[in-house]
Amino acid sequence: MKKYFVIGNPINHSLSPKLHNYWLKENNINATYDKIKLEENEIENFIFKIKNQEINGCNVTVPFKKIVIPFLDKLSPEAERTQSVNTISFLNGNLIGHNTDIDGFEKALNQLNYKVKDKKILILGAGGVVPSIIFALDKMQASKITVSNRTNKKAEDLKFQFNKINTVSWGEVPDFDMIINATSLGLNNETIDLDTSNIGGGKLFYDVIYNPSETNFLKVGKKLGSQTENGKLMFIYQAFEAFRLWHEVEPNVNDELIRFLNHD
Ligand code: ATR
Repeated sequence: MKKYFVIGNPINHSLSPKLHNYWLKENNINATYDKIKLEENEIENFIFKIKNQEINGCNVTVPFKKIVIPFLDKLSPEAERTQSVNTISFLNGNLIGHNTDIDGFEKALNQLNYKVKDKKILILGAGGVVPSIIFALDKMQASKITVSNRTNKKAEDLKFQFNKINTVSWGEVPDFDMIINATSLGLNNETIDLDTSNIGGGKLFYDVIYNPSETNFLKVGKKLGSQTENGKLMFIYQAFEAFRLWHEVEPNVNDELIRFLNHD
């Protein structure tokens, strides 16, 4: 029986096992998928188990998406560009790091029928998932990408990776079509101190957080007359791409699956 895992710390909240096991069963694939909390000094040994095929692959979540890179043999071009790996596979003797967060974000927006082309995007936060979001937005031809982060230096550092982006200081709200919360604010019911006085209606408020399903950030967007969306579809589609890489099967994404996941 093949074995897959998601590694992270903390990991308790992860819905990945529920999703992957659902698809494994649906596709009659003889494999298991579990979550495992690791400390940083346990990463190398864990990845070695994939190399010797005790384990067949893994997803990687916060805070290890960059830390795993030195232990891999190859990176996909997207993982290389973003320096972020969320999926590890093993092919022809090589450990390969992939980034399926990019595709997950793009597919989620496609499903919403939201066209990023020529739109001005404001990203709040500069943590682990932000390079993937910038990469996807750039690919979808956003006209302007602005990053605002509490620790301004982290936003500035992203310019070395993506020289087209702009930065503004935390609290500043330039004109935008779509605003993305990529901070951890909202996971525990926190509010984001946004000056909403110049934000008109008809925007898209997008939160990478999906649990809770409606953060205070999304509530603000709703109140301002904007479309809102949480990170559930992005989560589902990053898993979809990982599943396809490992099992060479495209799993189903439908309302029944979304309802099944919403029970948490
Ligand atoms: P990491 O920064 O380790 O990659 P992350 O969960 O991916 O972790 O990112 C957390 C994001 O939420 C960061 O952008 C962080 O801002 P800082 O870079 O200033 O730490 C942001 N964040 C967390 N708590 C915050 C708070 N109280 N106010 C504003 N931003 C906050």
